[in-house]
Amino acid sequence: METGLRQFEAIAQALAEAIACGVYRPGDRLPSIRQSSRTHGVAMGTALRAYDELEARGLIEARARSGYFVSAPRVARLPEPEQTTPARRSTPVEVSELVFRLLDEIKIAGFAPPGSAFPSPELFPLATLSRVAASAARRLDRWSSVRDLPPGNAELRRLIAKRYQLHGCAVQPDDILITNGALEAIGLSLQALTRPGDAVAIKSPTFYATLQAIERLGLRAVEVATHARTGIDLSELERAIRTQRVHACILMTSFQNPLGSTLDDDKKRDLVALLQRHSVPLIEDDVYAELHHGALRPRPAKYFDRSGQVLHCGSFAKCLAPGFRVGWVAAGRWHEAVRRLKLMTSIATASIPQAALASYLRDQPFDRHLRSLRASLASQLQSMVTAIDRYFPPGCRASRPEGGYLLWVELPEQIDALQLHAQAEKEQISIAPGPLFSPQRRYRNCIRLNFGHPWTGAMEAAMRRLGELITAAR
Ligand SMILES: Cc1ncc(COP(=O)(O)O)c(C=O)c1O
Repeated sequence: METGLRQFEAIAQALAEAIACGVYRPGDRLPSIRQSSRTHGVAMGTALRAYDELEARGLIEARARSGYFVSAPRVARLPEPEQTTPARRSTPVEVSELVFRLLDEIKIAGFAPPGSAFPSPELFPLATLSRVAASAARRLDRWSSVRDLPPGNAELRRLIAKRYQLHGCAVQPDDILITNGALEAIGLSLQALTRPGDAVAIKSPTFYATLQAIERLGLRAVEVATHARTGIDLSELERAIRTQRVHACILMTSFQNPLGSTLDDDKKRDLVALLQRHSVPLIEDDVYAELHHGALRPRPAKYFDRSGQVLHCGSFAKCLAPGFRVGWVAAGRWHEAVRRLKLMTSIATASIPQAALASYLRDQPFDRHLRSLRASLASQLQSMVTAIDRYFPPGCRASRPEGGYLLWVELPEQIDALQLHAQAEKEQISIAPGPLFSPQRRYRNCIRLNFGHPWTGAMEAAMRRLGELITAAR
């Protein structure tokens, strides 16, 4: 990680990650302050400040005359949300102004970021990427503007295909179309599969940018009940398909935004079989695939697809290069249709970011970066759940994603997340209120929180303040 954190925050972050990964287990003694100050080459006061920070987060505790020990995790008390129960009718989509306000507020320097959909840039190898991009720009083939026309840079597609192969997915370079981020991939896929007025099945709640893509194309959304741990309810999905003439289904199958849920392998296989039985194509938004906190990368539904009916959308925005705006789709039977739409929409994706990413994937330690990124996210999740447990009033529930950097909090029934957002905004704390994630404007007492930022004193203070606001509103 190339971090802009202060020294004590960086030491606290490193120790928190070691605790999250199980290097230090509950009850283990941590190195003494003196040892830590030597290890990190800092003053004793700086090491002490790092330990104070971890103690304040509830990750460690000081025992008189014995040193510092890893605390037992406190998070078990906090229950998880139940399965959602959206109305079964299809709805036209009109995403509120609030989405645009949220996007504006997270741009303001000094705003606490839990409402943002973006992970912190601190977590990415930006200096290496700049160097690689400068060198790729200097070496750029002068015919790249023509050669990189859709489907896109051949070397980048080869390297993406290699990662699919690594995970057992039979996707070839010619199956891949490079896009301007996953959002373009999703939008083009939807456009290839539907006509205005068609119904699209989505999990409920669903990421607001997906809702905006549905809105932009004049489609109708059918929200399907979803569980915060196990994902979409397949019998409800089948019922929706039987009763509503669904033309496509858009789902995240791993670490979904905003709930954090993941379908296990059996459920992914059943999902693909169900959709195939009904001839409904699946747009699989898998932008967090690389962000698993555990050892194994979950398989995508695409893995189980034998008929080319899954359009699998990926991106480098969340795992490597946030500002490059490079994503892709392996669109199966719709590859050529989506390629033509891409040509008609934005002609091509810029050559330099494509060349830079190809060079990075070929020559730089992508997997090492990913290991460090995953460890940071896992430790930040623990800090966030601990903070919710500590500062939020009784009656709250929080999801426990096994990857990604977003979780979902159900607040007590009487709390209005839109009012809470307005109050928090005045104090420069951003949160994403539940109604943004549902065309039926449900989830009024829910919020989505982002733990994709290094856990600093400012983050802790923002969570404490949010807890106070929620407690006062009860
Ligand atoms: C779930 C989900 N899908 C798609 C996107 C868009 O990805 P990209 O930035 O690659 O367009 C995002 C970005 O926030 C996301 O969270």
